[in-house]
Amino acid sequence: MSAAPHSTDPMDAAKRRAAEKAAELLRAGMRLGLGTGSTAWHFVNCVSEKIRGGMALICVPTSETTRAQAAALGIPLTTLDETPELDLTVDGADEFDPKLRLIKGGGGALLREKIVAAASARMIVITDRSKEVSCLGRFPLPVEIIPFGREATRRHVERAARQTGCAGPLAWRKAKSGLDFVTDSGNHILDCAFGQIPDPPALAAALSVIPGVVEHGLFIGLASAVIVADANGIEIKGELHQAASPSRS
Ligand code: A5P
Repeated sequence: MSAAPHSTDPMDAAKRRAAEKAAELLRAGMRLGLGTGSTAWHFVNCVSEKIRGGMALICVPTSETTRAQAAALGIPLTTLDETPELDLTVDGADEFDPKLRLIKGGGGALLREKIVAAASARMIVITDRSKEVSCLGRFPLPVEIIPFGREATRRHVERAARQTGCAGPLAWRKAKSGLDFVTDSGNHILDCAFGQIPDPPALAAALSVIPGVVEHGLFIGLASAVIVADANGIEIKGELHQAASPSRS
């Protein structure tokens, strides 16, 4: 797969610029997590360009879609079993708030995305301006659920939502075929249209203890920085560069 010609869509152009800014962080020898989605797609193309230019990088993809793109571009791939610690993951997001908390999983890859981000020293998020919110929840929160007993699990999710001040319709995600969407790990996604999530850490904690919930799309305390691109340029929220470790005396 080769990189597509530059799009004339302003939002896609913003995504590409955010990806290019993140690519400035790449250094020879880095172990990288590759995100999933239309913004991460641009970043994977940037990684491929760096490798073609002679930079040695090794990467873990966060989805089968990204694996296919990276493999087609000749990007050297590894797994978290072989390479359990990564230097940097660059990924998109469906929403971010002022505390750099995220909603992810619009593409259904939240489980691997969170595992890869958690294995990384830094997670940098690349987005266009449309993903910025003052309160998470405008984007329906994806919750990945094991198919066995899913309606019983759904009731627990509803209860956890109520107890943490969230309300709104929950819907099983469908694929284009009309059948249930199935994640790379064989699970289903419950999209929770809460509108607002007043206490993301409380909801995250409540969801995490429900049997049958594999993972949820709230990413809290994982993103070091968000690179936001819009027509006016690039804005960096958070710390793009790793703080230098204190020198030892
Ligand atoms: C994939 O599951 C998601 O978490 C994506 O990272 C998120 O949906 C952002 O995708 P876009 O870059 O396509 O908006």
